[in-house]
Amino acid sequence: KCPVGVLISGRGSNMAALVEAAEAPGYPARIAVVIANKADAAGLDFARARGIPAIAVPHRDFADKAAFETAMTAELERHGVELVCLAGFMRLLSPVFIERWRDRLINIHPSLLPAYRGLHTHERALADGVRVAGCTVHFVVPEVDAGPIVAQAAVPVMPGDDADALSARVLAAEHRLYPHALALVASGAARVEGGAVVLTGVGAAPAPLI
Ligand code: GAR
Repeated sequence: KCPVGVLISGRGSNMAALVEAAEAPGYPARIAVVIANKADAAGLDFARARGIPAIAVPHRDFADKAAFETAMTAELERHGVELVCLAGFMRLLSPVFIERWRDRLINIHPSLLPAYRGLHTHERALADGVRVAGCTVHFVVPEVDAGPIVAQAAVPVMPGDDADALSARVLAAEHRLYPHALALVASGAARVEGGAVVLTGVGAAPAPLI
């Protein structure tokens, strides 16, 4: 099983979905360590309760971003990590960190990329009056939310939705999409070639619309 490190900043519900998926015997990844950039991130307690090493690497404890990221990479390496999942990790990563984990670093984003990169995705989607929203798992490149797409899931925007209602519907889709996408990457069914994702094998069937 591919050893995976998960980086979180808070609640960690996507991390929890990955942990639960990885408990299935046939799943191609195992969660080797969870790292949070905040000591009080709620997700750390969940991981510890499941017996997974869960470590705070508080960015505020470091003189600069380079030192913070060096400490995170050291923890990831100490736990034998080969693939890193960002799951609600709210710090921008430097090109040095991204290069260290090139093609081994994926993120979940709460929109159907390339629409709505960045923050406040649901508010912006509602303001635009879109009728379909969703989430994307993509490889991380230095440009924010712009890397090659592994998988996406779509949900309807319902009459009367506010950002909280839409966010909850998208989050439920995230919890199904991320385990699916991680399995594709960890098994080698999805990999980056020439800056694009190539899908091969039986595991490459598209995620269902949710
Ligand atoms: C999720 O909706 C995730 O897609 C989003 O933050 C939330 C984290 O929730 N990520 C981003 O906005 C990244 N820019 P979680 O901590 O419960 O997984």
